[in-house]
Amino acid sequence: MTARIIDGNALAARVRGEIAEQAAQLAAQGVQPCLAVILVGNDPASAVYVRNKVSACEKAGIRSLRFDYPQDVTPGEVMAKLAELNADPAVHGILVQLPLPRQFDEAAVLEAISVAKDVDGFHAENVGRLSQSQEAFLPCTPHGVMKMLESEGVKVEGAEAVVIGRSNIVGKPMAMLLTNAGATVTVCHSKTRDLAFHTRRADIVVAAIGKPRFITGDMLKPGAVVIDVGINRLTEGPDAGKLAGDVDFASASEVAGLITPVPGGVGPMTITMLLANTVISASRAAARKGAA
Ligand code: GUN
Repeated sequence: MTARIIDGNALAARVRGEIAEQAAQLAAQGVQPCLAVILVGNDPASAVYVRNKVSACEKAGIRSLRFDYPQDVTPGEVMAKLAELNADPAVHGILVQLPLPRQFDEAAVLEAISVAKDVDGFHAENVGRLSQSQEAFLPCTPHGVMKMLESEGVKVEGAEAVVIGRSNIVGKPMAMLLTNAGATVTVCHSKTRDLAFHTRRADIVVAAIGKPRFITGDMLKPGAVVIDVGINRLTEGPDAGKLAGDVDFASASEVAGLITPVPGGVGPMTITMLLANTVISASRAAARKGAA
């Protein structure tokens, strides 16, 4: 079998078109959607992510405010900026790029962001709301994955889903979203004893482990839907310098039914859902303004 490829760029472009229309409508009502992005330190990957987020905002007609801090900034300074942004009615979304330097208590920073502006969906209250199936800002990567499954008509209800990775950013919220959608979910991670035992019986595999080309075709059930969240820069071998996912695309695409490529798969959807959350927050602000 040769898998059909899910084109994340095409889906992201379609959804971003709708978001840009909504942003323009809100701007016409006097509420231009605005995202504030905080970047601390000099992690090169974080710098690239932040640049891409800011540029995607511009293209969708969303205003962005960017605040860069040196690696040794005091947490108090960043917390003061968050308090200022929380209180600013012109700001609808606030994002602190992770990871943060060691002097920061990451959970405390995430909880200092207003729940109503937490467009990353990382605040403990939004996480709790998600776990209770209440309306919440959903974390962008898992939400983007759900959009991909939906757009491909993948039946999640009743499916056996295996999520590989248990991070707060991807694995755990991914498992929660799949659970809420009616899948039977197994969460595997670095301590899982026999990973292939689990992946081989999965109808849907979501790989978010951070190990290049780790999931190979022989670990998959024929026809499975394979979603690759990994973005790894290869450092050795003939493909050194290239990007690779957590899935070995060459062998996996011989077995899977549907598969996401890297790049051009989940990545473009993550930023798309950030834009979507920012526009949702701005439309709530517009509704409040209209009601006042
Ligand atoms: N670091 C890696 N992924 C993310 C993300 O989705 N949001 C933020 N804020 N930081 C990240």
